Amino acid sequence: MAIETDNPGTAAAYAPNRFLNRYHEQLGTGPVPIAPFIAPDYLLRERETIFKHCWLNVGRIEQIQNPGDFFTKELEACDTNILVLRATDRRLRAFHNVCQHRGNRLVWEPTGNCGTHLSCRYHGWSYDSSGALVLATDAENFWSLRPDEHHLAQIAVDTWQGFIFINLQPKPRESLREYLGPIADRLEDYPFEQLTTCFSYSVRERANWKIAATSQEEGYHVPYIHKQSHGRAIYFDKRGNYRSIDIELFGRHHRILTSPNLNFQPSAVEKIAGAHMPGFVDAFAENGSGDQTRNRSIPGYYSFFPNFHLLALQGNYLAYNFWPLSVDETRWEIRAFYPPPKTIGEKFALEYGRCAARDIVSEDIPLHEAIQSSMRSGAISHFTFHDEETCCRHTMKLVDDYVKGFGGPAGRQ
Ligand code: FES
Ligand SMILES: [Fe+2]
Repeated sequence: MAIETDNPGTAAAYAPNRFLNRYHEQLGTGPVPIAPFIAPDYLLRERETIFKHCWLNVGRIEQIQNPGDFFTKELEACDTNILVLRATDRRLRAFHNVCQHRGNRLVWEPTGNCGTHLSCRYHGWSYDSSGALVLATDAENFWSLRPDEHHLAQIAVDTWQGFIFINLQPKPRESLREYLGPIADRLEDYPFEQLTTCFSYSVRERANWKIAATSQEEGYHVPYIHKQSHGRAIYFDKRGNYRSIDIELFGRHHRILTSPNLNFQPSAVEKIAGAHMPGFVDAFAENGSGDQTRNRSIPGYYSFFPNFHLLALQGNYLAYNFWPLSVDETRWEIRAFYPPPKTIGEKFALEYGRCAARDIVSEDIPLHEAIQSSMRSGAISHFTFHDEETCCRHTMKLVDDYVKGFGGPAGRQ
């Protein structure tokens, strides 16, 4: 059994297949077929069995802090457009964004404040912020109209650590907290509430959503495609291989702990930015100060089934959502969260982080699209996963279990 501990920051023992040795009975060890990435029928089943059943992250509470604040969102994977708002009683509510007269889209703006009412632009029906129909125009000329039968169609909504989740099932079989399970405990002390300044990117990729998502669930590729970017801040062993500290599966979710490179040398600009606020690259190796005596936090990559990932770093975090648009098209939403900048230096550091994040995801995207194109060629029939790609295997197993009807609280996990 080979053991390498040449990174003084970790005491990890890097035995071959250390993760699959732990999880092979649950996940299997064989190659994974590519059909789930290219078959349109498979996506249809994913939409029905996964996206219309699981709790899905759709935003943050900072987006709707005041009564009347709302946002709308197209959820192609769920065949609906949703309206999420802070009601006048300050409760969070979510609805299908559909007027109950003849089905017009009720709210057309992506964000805003509706005051106390929402009015349909088609024939003027109005609803209060609880979704109750309060005005049907020219009501006496309906043969019979019962306002209580025209309530907006509600959607289950809940929050965890300020993240807003919805569930399209009329009566979800699990609460959000039950759905998240013990992985949520691992982030209990993370200061999400302090990191409220957000910048975002929305990327339309010509790749299946699972190609985009699983590509983020492994560090095996980091020494290669990201060698010159954040790869510099991540520990590789003497042979240049990526070695995570640990991979843990928590039911339907998982976490990868990444080992920082204690010998990280920030570039000149990283040094300037890092003096004010951790950026994107240097945050992997704490704050880029080059001070070897400081305690290092461990970057954690948290993947919440099916399509929500958090990369929790020291001083900032990233949130990813992967939304299938078609079998070979995905909207990858990327949001980075920082403390609100107070000084010019902090603003500079934030801009630096914005550019660094863009550059790093730009390294990934062409590869996702190349993989999708290769799968169509017929030149590859299976993927062969490395031990550091155990989380990709986990995700593929979960998806397949759901599609085959084994997923969820009553199924095997
Ligand atoms: S469809 Fe909304 S008022 Fe007619
Ligand atoms: Fe990557």
